[in-house]
Parts: sequence; C-alpha cells; structure tokens
Amino acid sequence: MRVPMMAGNWKMNCDLDEAEALAKGVVEGVGSIEGVAVVLAPPFTALERVANVITGSNVKLSAQNLYWKASGAYTGEVSPKMLTSCGCAYVIVGHSERRGRFGVPEPDMTDDLIRVFGDTDAAVNTKAKAALGTGLTPIICVGETLAEREAGLTDAIVRDQVIAALEGMDAAQINGVILAYEPVWAIGTGKTCESVEANRVIGVVRAAIDWVAGAGAAADITVLYGGSVKPDNVRELVEQPEIDGGLVGGASLKAGSFNELVTVTKEVRGS
Ligand code: 13P
Repeated sequence: MRVPMMAGNWKMNCDLDEAEALAKGVVEGVGSIEGVAVVLAPPFTALERVANVITGSNVKLSAQNLYWKASGAYTGEVSPKMLTSCGCAYVIVGHSERRGRFGVPEPDMTDDLIRVFGDTDAAVNTKAKAALGTGLTPIICVGETLAEREAGLTDAIVRDQVIAALEGMDAAQINGVILAYEPVWAIGTGKTCESVEANRVIGVVRAAIDWVAGAGAAADITVLYGGSVKPDNVRELVEQPEIDGGLVGGASLKAGSFNELVTVTKEVRGS
C-alpha cells in the first residue's frame, strides 16, 4: 500500500521569517490531515525554525541535499546527522538542479544552466545510501532534459538514473526510498508533462526498480511527479494510477496553493 505524498521544495527561497510564516500557513491549513504525507523542504538555514513550527502536526521536514560523510573538513557541506538533529525525516537527492552528468554544470541549448552543481549518478547513489544509513528517507529525483527528450532518450535516461541511484542497495533499502520523476524541461517553466505521459514514464521508473530489486518491488514504492504542479493540474496528475503525488517548487511557496495540492491529493488518493 503506497502512501500518497505532497512535498514542497522551497529551493533557495525564504529567509527565516518568511519560512516560519509559510510553514505556519501549511500547518494551519493541512497540519492534521491523514492519509497523505505532507513534507516541507526549506533551505538548510530555515530547517530548525520550520521544525519548531511543525512540531505536533502531521507535517514532516525534508532537507534539499546532503553530503555523505559524517563530519570533517568538507567546507560548505551538511551531513546526514546534522539533518536528523534538525528534525528532518526526508532529504531530496539528485534534484536536476544539483546534478551534472560529467561532474560539472551542464548548460542547455540556450546556455542556461539546467544541471547546476555537478552531482553525478554515483554521487546521487552515495548520498541516497548515506541518507538511508542515518534513518532519512531519500526522495531521489530523476528526469530527462529537453534535448534528451527530443532525441528520443527519455526512457533510457530515466531507467539509467534509477538503476544508478539504487546501485548496491538491498531490497529493504530500496523499499525505503521515494522516487520523483521530474522532467527537467517542465521544472519552473510552467510546462507540465502531460499527465498520461508522466504516468507512462513513471511506469518506466517502476520497471527499473523491479529490474534492480525483483518483480513486484516497485508496487509498494511511492513515486512522485514534479514539474509545474499547480492547483489547476494536480487533479489530473494524481488521478493517474502510477502517480502517487507531487514534488512541487513554485506552487509550494504560497500556503494557499500548496494546501490545495494537498487537499486534492487527499480527495483523489487518500485513504
Ligand atoms: P516547479 O514546481 O517550480 O516546476 O519545480 C519543480 C521542482 O523542481 C520540485 O523539486
């Protein structure tokens, strides 16, 4: 039985007061909802402040990234244990904005950076394992760029990213991850991947999980869609059988719109 989820990725937005106000708006609106996991991923600096606001509610805390080492001389990085000590239950790993196939940022065809921070598939795998080893649930993101889609590579890219992210994990560990299909061309662009197509690609994600972990393994794993999820398209997305919820950027920055995403998901998918 998969738990539906709506997760807000605030990215590099919200100072402390803004974060507190936004978290309060979510707790007031959907803080006691059941049957849908509600997750907020503020920037590192606001984790503790948001943790204080959500205490006692059903809202859970996520970080947006981590480094895999426990401690040491890694200037600018944050360890898994630092995140659990802030109250995090989840961490986003392998978001396209953090990736870069060759270990360096990748520009798109207009020279905008689409994969900005150079995390390779191997880094994503190491980060996901470090998260699991510390009791954090990794939300592992996969997805193709526009150029990859236009070259007919969507399924191959998504399959390869899933297999690489799960490399070396045992069945119990794989059972503890969440996947998110986020087509890069749909992130922050207002272009949503058509719900039937998102559903189809999430089928590819599930087939890759089964390939690694054995037939049927994917049936219990929550897989989200991300990329311009908004109140006016969330219903048709979560009505799709393979889509268990959303990983949301822009529409998670206003409590009103995020809460609507949660309530629609509860209506359609909640128990
Ligand atoms: P948008 O909802 O702003 O397109 O961002 C999606 C995303 O990247 C969530 O992780």
